[in-house]
Amino acid sequence: MARVLVTRALPPGGLDPLVDAGHEIAARADDTPFTHDELVAAAGEVDAIVSLLTDRIDDDVLAAGAAGSLRVVANVAVGYDNIDVDAARRVGVAVCNTPGVLDETTADLAFLLLLAASRLASDAERDLRAGAWAGWGINQYLGQDVAGTVLGLVGFGRIGRAVAFRAGGFGMEVLHHARHDSGRPGYVADLDKLLRRADAVSLHVPLTAATRHLIGRRELELMKPTAVLVNTARGPVVDEIALAEALESGSIFAAGLDVFEHEPDVHPRLLAAPRTVLLPHIGSASTATRTRMARVAAGGACAVLAGEHPPNLVT
Ligand code: NAP
Ligand code: GLV
Repeated sequence: MARVLVTRALPPGGLDPLVDAGHEIAARADDTPFTHDELVAAAGEVDAIVSLLTDRIDDDVLAAGAAGSLRVVANVAVGYDNIDVDAARRVGVAVCNTPGVLDETTADLAFLLLLAASRLASDAERDLRAGAWAGWGINQYLGQDVAGTVLGLVGFGRIGRAVAFRAGGFGMEVLHHARHDSGRPGYVADLDKLLRRADAVSLHVPLTAATRHLIGRRELELMKPTAVLVNTARGPVVDEIALAEALESGSIFAAGLDVFEHEPDVHPRLLAAPRTVLLPHIGSASTATRTRMARVAAGGACAVLAGEHPPNLVT
């Protein structure tokens, strides 16, 4: 029997694979996050950690764990930029994530943001709730059409492809960019070309050194003044100051954002920016999906503890 640290409260049933295997769960009675120092201290006392994307699992945590008996960190997220994977490799700790089980839910949210931002839903709802709507007007809240336009996907993995599927239903032409040619119609090797052609751009890359500020001032200037930017990937993929400037000046039309550079802080200029829909990182937030994610992470930890190589192994 192994001892498993679970850093935050998970959906009911999420830990079943670990519980069923008879492992001991170490968790707080409430949902108070561990501070970094607490994580470092706790890592040395356990064989596995089930973490969330809000936990910084860095060299200090991993070294403290490896000095004890830590064998695996299982992140309840598909993105694992919160974990120093190189350090994990160095000290021989396995890392697992949750690929595949959140694609549809996250793609739904990306499409929701595309529609809401294109049609100025947040601005319109804000006015209505504030009692500032005086009645129907032919020139009010004029947005951009989505059906029949060109969608540019940056990143064409599991979630990008699920968004492309939805775009098919809206009669959109879908372009996509990634480092490797997907071999599928619509592949554009040059990101700049995609940005110039797309009516809407949706980001689906992981956060890495290469994708940090992938969309900055220069890239935003390449986009059409009628274009909409959607980010459900990770906040730092976009330079938020440059985006706020682009929205303020009208050099792009609108943005729909689920992720931010310094979560949970949202840049005040984005909060004040026009034609912007902002959501608090809820891409995968359905009961069924979040439960599946917890189970997949817990299952990965269980498998590593049993000496196996689960399919959701990152390292
Ligand atoms: P995935 O299947 O691994 O797809 C990633 C795509 O990005 C691939 O097409 C990859 O292709 C491309 N890519 C990687 N590095 C690139 C670069 N430097 N330039 C251009 N393209 C690059 O990942 P996924 O499962 O779709 O998830 C994508 C990301 O979405 C996650 O990492 C996570 O950060 C985010 N996410 C957010 C939420 C949310 O709640 N908002 C939910 C789920 C996921 P190449 O390797 O060929 O470049
Ligand atoms: C959510 O952001 C995830 O990476 O799963």
